[in-house]
Amino acid sequence: MIVLGIETSCDETAAAVVEETGVPDRPWRMRSSVVASQVEIHREWGGVVPELSARQHIRDICGVVEKALADAGNVAFDAIAVTQGPGLVGSLLVGLSFAKSLAWARSVPLIPVHHLAGHIESLVLERGEMPLPAIVLVVSGGHTNLYWVTEPGRYQLLGRTRDDAAGEAYDKVAKLLGLGYPGGPVIDRLAATGDHRSIPFPKTRLTHADRNAPHLEGRRDFSFSGLKTSVLRHVTERRTQLGLANDARLPDPEIANICASFQRVVVETLLDRLFDAARWYDARSIGIAGGVSANSGLRAGAIERGDRRGIPVFIPSLALSTDNAAMIAAAGLRKFRAGGPGALDVNAEASLALEAR
Ligand code: KG4
Ligand code: ZN
Repeated sequence: MIVLGIETSCDETAAAVVEETGVPDRPWRMRSSVVASQVEIHREWGGVVPELSARQHIRDICGVVEKALADAGNVAFDAIAVTQGPGLVGSLLVGLSFAKSLAWARSVPLIPVHHLAGHIESLVLERGEMPLPAIVLVVSGGHTNLYWVTEPGRYQLLGRTRDDAAGEAYDKVAKLLGLGYPGGPVIDRLAATGDHRSIPFPKTRLTHADRNAPHLEGRRDFSFSGLKTSVLRHVTERRTQLGLANDARLPDPEIANICASFQRVVVETLLDRLFDAARWYDARSIGIAGGVSANSGLRAGAIERGDRRGIPVFIPSLALSTDNAAMIAAAGLRKFRAGGPGALDVNAEASLALEAR
């Protein structure tokens, strides 16, 4: 079976073709993957502007799908997988409407896919099936979720952020340092040139249960807004000490030290929770997916801890760590094999839960 994947949940218009291999341990093969990024459009505004995003998806989608099909040798596809949610509803609607129309015109089934199931499937697409049970961290601009995976395609939420997602914290800290959008890649690059022990930003400790999810007992939750506030306080103090204006940029060596110290806390927080959960649940493998999995500190730290503990760590290549449609096509294949196609009247859902599906 060959699936065309389409992804338009945020600021990337993406299409890809993925096929089944028939090999149980390595079930999917990518034939093409095309991503048109809108970063340049949103940079000017310091973040993703939903209306601009939806309009740009409309402009780009035909060309992106045509290129993905051409790159795959213009093979006939047997189904279309498309991101149903979560994401920006206007953006989701562009991909979903396009996918529905094409599925109807070509008389092929439509498979609505959860965006985070896609991120998790990027691990399998590249490395093959993860030894289960596994603990998987999905860490992106909108989510910081920890999942317990006992069988392929079933994800139980163990913890999540109570405020900012890790990627969101990167983007907000970059903004307050005057580094532009998106913040993750810039902070990552500058962190490599700074001293990560220079500023003792605190790690947030969560002990009490979350009122919104008492069953989780809050033990495996995350919180990054306190860290962001600490960075803001530090920057404000330094501006005063240096006699700079309220919105002035700090000297470059100081910015590098702030980036390195901030990144150390984020990476340690994520890895502490992840490896602690893996030990507690006796997991056979660990996965990290989503845009922040592109982070060099997180990648190096995860591999180092995995080697030390003797547990395999799955992280996508840089190309598949941020939003793409190959992961959506692969997750669509898994969903189709487990439960068949979806209906053509499915709706885009801005906040769609993964564990219920
Ligand atoms: O998964 P993704 O492409 O889109 C969402 O589903 O949110 O993730 C985007 C997020 C942004 O917040 C971006 O700043 C962050 O991933 N990101 C990074 C890096 N590359 C992207 N964060 C830290 N380090 C990076 N190298
Ligand atoms: Zn994403």
